[in-house]
Amino acid sequence: MMIKDDTDLWWKRGVIYQIYPRSFMDTNHDGIGDLKGIISKLDYLNDGTTNSLGVDAIWVSPIYKSPMKDFGYDISDYRDIDPIFGDMADFKMLIKEAHKRNIRVIMDLVVNHTSDKHPWFMESKKSKDNPKRDWYIWHGRRPNNWVAVFELRNAWWHDKDTGEYYLGTFTKHQPELNWRNSEVKKAIFNMIEYWLDLGVDGFRMDVINYLIKDDLLRNNPWKLSFNPIDVQEHIYDRNRPETHDICKEIRKITDKYEDRMLVGEIYTNSVKEAVAYHGTGNDELHLAFNFSFLFQNWSARGFYQNIKEYYNSLPKDAWPNFTLSNHDQPRHHYRYRAGKNTDARARVAAAMLMTLRGTPFIYYGEEIGMTNGKIIRKAIQDPLGKRGWPFIKGRDAERTPMQWDDTLNAGFSDTSTWLPVNQDYREKNVANQLKQEGSLINFYKRLIWLRKGSNALSVGSIEFLEKAPEQVLFYWRKYEHEQVIVILNFSDQHQILDGSLIGRVQIILGTHRWSGEEITLTAANKFKIYPYEVLLINPA
Ligand code: GLC
Repeated sequence: MMIKDDTDLWWKRGVIYQIYPRSFMDTNHDGIGDLKGIISKLDYLNDGTTNSLGVDAIWVSPIYKSPMKDFGYDISDYRDIDPIFGDMADFKMLIKEAHKRNIRVIMDLVVNHTSDKHPWFMESKKSKDNPKRDWYIWHGRRPNNWVAVFELRNAWWHDKDTGEYYLGTFTKHQPELNWRNSEVKKAIFNMIEYWLDLGVDGFRMDVINYLIKDDLLRNNPWKLSFNPIDVQEHIYDRNRPETHDICKEIRKITDKYEDRMLVGEIYTNSVKEAVAYHGTGNDELHLAFNFSFLFQNWSARGFYQNIKEYYNSLPKDAWPNFTLSNHDQPRHHYRYRAGKNTDARARVAAAMLMTLRGTPFIYYGEEIGMTNGKIIRKAIQDPLGKRGWPFIKGRDAERTPMQWDDTLNAGFSDTSTWLPVNQDYREKNVANQLKQEGSLINFYKRLIWLRKGSNALSVGSIEFLEKAPEQVLFYWRKYEHEQVIVILNFSDQHQILDGSLIGRVQIILGTHRWSGEEITLTAANKFKIYPYEVLLINPA
């Protein structure tokens, strides 16, 4: 497999860092993170020097006005900031301060549904002939079997006043907009322009593949799964062909502005479904998340197969991206835990994320190896966990406060926090790790800055050694004369690389050898790599 491309676009070269604002940094003493908190940490994210992490963009999960039934993914005013997070002045300051540091700002765009407290829905609910009635999806009876995934029941909600049912496939408090209504489209498109005019650099598009529902509202076929999202084949409530037309329209709007980017959440295990949102002539989203990579088990072969399928499925000129953790899934430090080898695995995962061909997304805290928190029943906040306990515990565990230092509440807040701080914070925190040369955070920093300075790693071609040992990922990144070889041992055993590398090589970065060290490899000389070794090398 050989893929080549080059470009200077920031979202192709850059590393993107997801901030879950409630949990990043609290400055107004309410135990919940805020915009001023994010601003106070911008230097940590990128101060232009290798002292900082070096990320190029932040994606901020929703900060709009919201009753917080789904923690911001239920919006009641698309044009204002929720007071929990600050105000418009803070937001403008965030854009200004981020841009000063060459950090782009990506907003979360949640337009499949609004909050039930959004004035549009309040109007829509008033009567069957209200001018906004058709802005949402209403029906005189429950027309089908679609599921509300956070409430574990049918997705049609009875409205006492008008006697009809509205659709809400998350919670009852998140009625779905009717994207077949042209006024809805116009209102959302205007709102998109409003934020672009304010200087945001793009949008992460929440459940973008859900926008359009089947015009005949047909039943989905049932299937067996413990995951509420997977109990049906989502044939009629997701990925309807008309959704692509809307993506094209949104792309056209963003293209009127310079250098903006759209990344879509296409929640599906199917690589083919996900990549379809790039469009055919590169006319839909710039990036589409590939969840099957995030769902991959710890296996070099498994990742190899997944990455290969993904690259091969991408439409011509579409740019890849990779993510291992986000605010909806157990953190990968937790998913890939292996006792004393957990940290070694985290390094292998980090090196893979930062050296594959495609934009890496980091989830806040992964750079220090934050793991899932332990959330007892009465601390649960997530509506999914409240409903599903004890079988489905929800998503709080991956949303615990950022661990900045070993002081009270990990330096996140000076008062009791909205979710408990993970107890491991006394050892596992930013301040501590920054002081330790060999820490995970310093490894992330080295990888990010190395990637930034290397055309081969950021935009070069990628080619895999197909006959690498089962538990080894081995690939070349190349750009003109520059070449980086990446070798990742996913196992706790030594691995022998047989004659695949010949000549004099120099270590650029690794976990078990010194940077700068040179090794001469001959056909007879079997190259032994250590358990969980990460090796980035240069043919000398
Ligand atoms: C997306 C978000 C998730 C949210 C849901 C409903 O999947 O990532 O956090 O609950 O959409 O908006």
